Amino acid sequence: MSLLEVKNLFIEDIRNNEAIVSDVSFELKCNTCLGIVGESGSGKSMTTKAILGLTNPWLKVTGSAKFKDIELLKENSDTIRKIRGKNICMILQDAMSAFDPLYTIGYQMIETLCENINLPKKEAEKISIEALEKMYINEPKQVIRKYPHQLSGGMLQRCMIALAMAMKPDIIIADEPTTALDSINQREVVEEFKRLKEMTGTSVIFISHDLGVVQHLAQDILVMKNGKCVECGKASEVFKNPKHEYTKYLIDTRLRFTDSFRKSMILEDEVCCCK
Ligand SMILES: Nc1ncnc2c1ncn2[C@@H]1O[C@H](COP(=O)(O)OP(=O)(O)OP(=O)(O)O)[C@@H](O)[C@H]1O
Ligand SMILES: [Mg+2]
Repeated sequence: MSLLEVKNLFIEDIRNNEAIVSDVSFELKCNTCLGIVGESGSGKSMTTKAILGLTNPWLKVTGSAKFKDIELLKENSDTIRKIRGKNICMILQDAMSAFDPLYTIGYQMIETLCENINLPKKEAEKISIEALEKMYINEPKQVIRKYPHQLSGGMLQRCMIALAMAMKPDIIIADEPTTALDSINQREVVEEFKRLKEMTGTSVIFISHDLGVVQHLAQDILVMKNGKCVECGKASEVFKNPKHEYTKYLIDTRLRFTDSFRKSMILEDEVCCCK
């Protein structure tokens, strides 16, 4: 069953009549992960922000984005805000901008949980600490007392993921959630997304430059270039039999990278053996 269905989405900058996203359509099925890949500037963030009413006023958004029976592009801003708080959570690419610098992380997590899913304060605090622990944050009781500027970008990113997961929404949209993390943390966070999907049934839209991560998580894939969808379908099919030149290029680049990485590891092993 389709949980979110986007049809013929267009985004235009009315200041210069420039098309930012043109005729993008896709669907997110229940309990699945859709991976969105494409080069920088291809429109990945814009596509998802437009669905949630997060674009600037100079951007004209047309088409259809249906969540269950609700047409998101036609709803008023109050309803969309409620949906953003309860049903569809977005993990923004820029973690710093997601938190208010004037309040502690804990205050913001607890307020969000109390307001959007009606939890009592004590319960919200307990859930916040548990969620931070799940995101491999040491000493979460201390971290919740800190202000955003006292934490690194990677830590903030993990706090944001923890909060989104604690909300248990129907959909999590994760925009490059692992870019600020080192590779060990990246792997742990990706595993956590996989576990979340399996345990809670939350559907995920995962935007990433990293095809390896997408391959690991996503059942379906959308490949974007210059604001357009160049390929869309089952991830296993797209990876096995890419139809568009650009998808082939992305997969080849990924394989070349993995191959040279593997070779460098083998060479390192050989050097170690010779010592
Ligand atoms: N607020 C804005 N107003 C007008 N144009 C914008 C705005 N934000 C982004 N753009 C333009 O929209 C296009 C798509 O941007 P978008 O941020 O969606 O790319 P992206 O695929 O998410 O890239 P990245 O991988 O770097 O995050 C770009 O050409 C960008 O310059
Ligand atoms: Mg982006």
